[in-house]
Formats: sequence, structure tokens, C-alpha cells
Amino acid sequence: MNSRGGLEEMKALILKLEEKRMLDREEFVRLIGWRAARLGRAAGSPGEQEGSPVGSPLPDPAVAGKSTGGAAQNDAGKSTGGAAQNVAGKVTGEAARDVAGNVTGGAAQNVAGKVTGEAAGNFAGESTGQVAQKAVGNAAGGADGEGEALDAFLFDRADRVRKAIYGNKVYIRGLIEFTNYCRNNCYYCGIRRGNGRASRYRLTEEEILACCRSGYELGFRTFVLQGGEDPYHTDDRVVKLVAAIRAEFPDCAITLSIGEKSRESYQRFYDAGADRYLLRHETADDAHYRRLHPPELSLENRRRCLWDLKEIGYQVGCGFMVGSPWQTVGCLAQDLMFIGELEPHMVGIGPFIPHRDTPFAQCEGGTAEMTLFLLGVCRLMLPEVLLPATTALGTALADGREQGIKAGANVVMPNLSPGNVRKKYLLYDNKICTGDEAAESLQSLREHMAGIGYEVAVDRGDHKKYI
Ligand code: 5AD
Repeated sequence: MNSRGGLEEMKALILKLEEKRMLDREEFVRLIGWRAARLGRAAGSPGEQEGSPVGSPLPDPAVAGKSTGGAAQNDAGKSTGGAAQNVAGKVTGEAARDVAGNVTGGAAQNVAGKVTGEAAGNFAGESTGQVAQKAVGNAAGGADGEGEALDAFLFDRADRVRKAIYGNKVYIRGLIEFTNYCRNNCYYCGIRRGNGRASRYRLTEEEILACCRSGYELGFRTFVLQGGEDPYHTDDRVVKLVAAIRAEFPDCAITLSIGEKSRESYQRFYDAGADRYLLRHETADDAHYRRLHPPELSLENRRRCLWDLKEIGYQVGCGFMVGSPWQTVGCLAQDLMFIGELEPHMVGIGPFIPHRDTPFAQCEGGTAEMTLFLLGVCRLMLPEVLLPATTALGTALADGREQGIKAGANVVMPNLSPGNVRKKYLLYDNKICTGDEAAESLQSLREHMAGIGYEVAVDRGDHKKYI
């Protein structure tokens, strides 16, 4: 287990990262691989290498066909601990049957078909059976506590770095999920075009303004307008909406999260009063990107969008899912290299969580442990970054929000959408939308944050370079 470096060597890498704010790609591979290999997998697992899986490969069609039996049973078997527990419970019973039907058709076939080709090559020897076994190991937790020891070291460094810049402040953003119509068909996402079971909605401008008003009363000074790429929301409509919010709430930040647009469109939104833009890159590895998205989407265009946004003057957020299907240690190292290059102001990191009506329904979810580790790493790379403890993390782990903050995150994004649509913005199964992630529970959020030594801030919470 220690053949590729022990705990002390990893701590030294973390100190180097803190000092230089960057590591070589090989060093990232060693660090991430070391941690991934200690998610409780058997000793000698290949987790420390570049090509070692962090996410599960999709079952091939033959396996998928059996998913009411084997796969579901394996998943159920995981439910003894941690993140796996929450994610696992979902894939059993009726959901699994629904999913089995889906996996035989359309996009699923395209995706599944790939498993036998190139992807399978990358995961040499990695049968779905072995993946399931590893998952059982994951649920059992680290065997020797070394992984947890490194976490404690990393989170302590990350916490100090954050406190030196932002103190113990946690910034809040009111999230308004204003449309779940989407023209895209990303294989992982519950509101993908191809999901005929999604119950679609879009809010009117007046409804969105009403969300802002109640949010403002509650104390929010940032509104995040997030939605699918909804053709109804033309540039003109978005401009009109942004201008209306800007006029009524001059002291608030407006964040857009509405996908890939032309540079001209981004410029128009900015001129209308938008300050920030969230657009996760999802994965910085081109081959991996193509396994998560249909051919009409490209990493190249995603990167172009992010650079355009930055040049225009937005505070920009990129980000990625942890444990998405086919993700390897090398993919995550690539994500960190990209983040080092882009130097975004915000980074959204959350575990992949399968959605029952997508081609990835049968895939294993990412772990909260790996997500927390990457939050800590990200804080050390970009000390001033605004880093949310995401809803997906809160979904994968009951106290995920708090743990995320302790690992280096400093933002939470409670949901300001009207209650009747919250359940419809379902990117993944069992997404939480009541409790502290609900905007109206701000007092409870404040108490939870105070309980771990942090204070919910009342200001806009701009990036240090924008104050
Ligand atoms: N699990 C976790 N995160 C997801 N997202 C979309 N689908 C899923 C899923 N199944 C994330 C993507 C996207 C953001 C809005 O939500 O990273 O950028």
C-alpha cells in the first residue's frame, strides 16, 4: 500500500501545494490517487495510478439488462455506510426496473456501446463485478485510517488559508432555478432533453422578481439565476430580466448559470447588469467529456465560453462532478490543471449522483470523501476562491454542507425557487430541497454554521479581486 508514497510524503505534497499553489500533473495524480486508493478498497488496488477509476464505467448492455437483479443487489449491498448509503438506496426496486427499460434505448445505447471499446481498454480488467466489490469496500471505510489522517491535515491547512482571507464568513447565494427546459442531452443530467418523464416548468419574469423580493427580505444579496438551456429564454428575454433585477436591487450581485452562449450574448447580459457566471466545465479531459455528453457538445466550446466570460469581466465559476462515470485519477488531475490555468473566481465541486431516468442510472455515485478532499485541494490552489458546499454534497452526506465548509468551502446556495417547482429541478435522484438548503430556513443554517464556528455573512460576498 505504501509502495507509491506514504502519508508523510502526501503531507509534504500538500504543503508544497499550499506554498506554490500548483503541482505538476504527476504530483496531482499521486496525491489524488493515494487518497482514492484509501477509500477502503483492498490493499494493492490500482487506485494510485493515472488510469485508476474514480467513477464507475457504465455497465455494458448485457449487464444493464440484468439490472433489476445483479446491479441493484450490488447497490443495495453497499448501503452499510457513508455516502454510498444515500446514493445506493435509490437504485433498488422500482427505480431499477424503470432504469433497466431506459438503458436499452436511445442515447443509452450509444453510451453503453462504448464500454466495450475504448473505455473498456482504459479500465483494463475492471469488470462491473469488480467495481461493485470496490464499492462495498468503499462503504466499509478506510482500512487503516491513513486516508482520514491526510484529510485532517489537508482540511486544517485549507481552513487556515480561507480564514486568513475571508475569516470565518460563509457567503450565501439565493438560488432561483427558473427553468428546467433544456435543449441539451447530457447523459448524467435529470433535466436532459431526452428525459420524457421530467415535469417541465419555467417561471415568468414576475415570478422570478417575486423570488428576489422574498430573498432580499431574508437577507440575500446575491441571486443566482440557474436554468437549463431553454430556447424560450432568448437573449432579449434574459437581458430584460437581468435589467429588471438590476434596477430593483442595485445593491445585489446577479449570477447567471444558463449554459453555453456566444460571446456577444455573454457581453449583452454583462452590460445589462450581470456580475457573475457559473458554467461547470464538467471534466477537463477531452475523451472523458465525450463520454458524458452527446457529440454536439464539446470541451473546446466549454473552455471558449469560460475564457470569454473571464475576458468580459465576469466573476467566473467552473467546476466538475466527482465520481462521474469513467472518471479516472488522471481526469481529476486534468481538472486541477485546468483550474490552475483558468484561475476562476468560483469552483463548483459535487459528487455525481445517478438519476433514474438517464443513461447513467445504473452507475455508482461519487463519494463525499473524494469531494471533500478536492474541496480542500482547491482551497489551497486558489486561496481567494469562492467555493460552495454544494447541494449534491448535502444530498450524498447528511451533514455534507458543514463538512464541506470545514474542508475549505465558504459558500452555500440555499434554494429560493417557489416551493411547488423545487422538486422538478431534479438533476439527480433525491436532491434535497427542504431543510437548511431552503432559503426560508436561513435561521437554521445560521445556527448550524455557528455550531461549527462559522458566521453567515450578509454582504454580496464578492471575490477579493472585485472588492
Ligand atoms: N449528479 C451530480 N451533479 C449533476 N449535475 C448535473 N447532473 C448531475 C448529477 N446527476 C451538475 C452538473 C451541472 C450542474 C448544474 O449540476 O455539474 O453543471
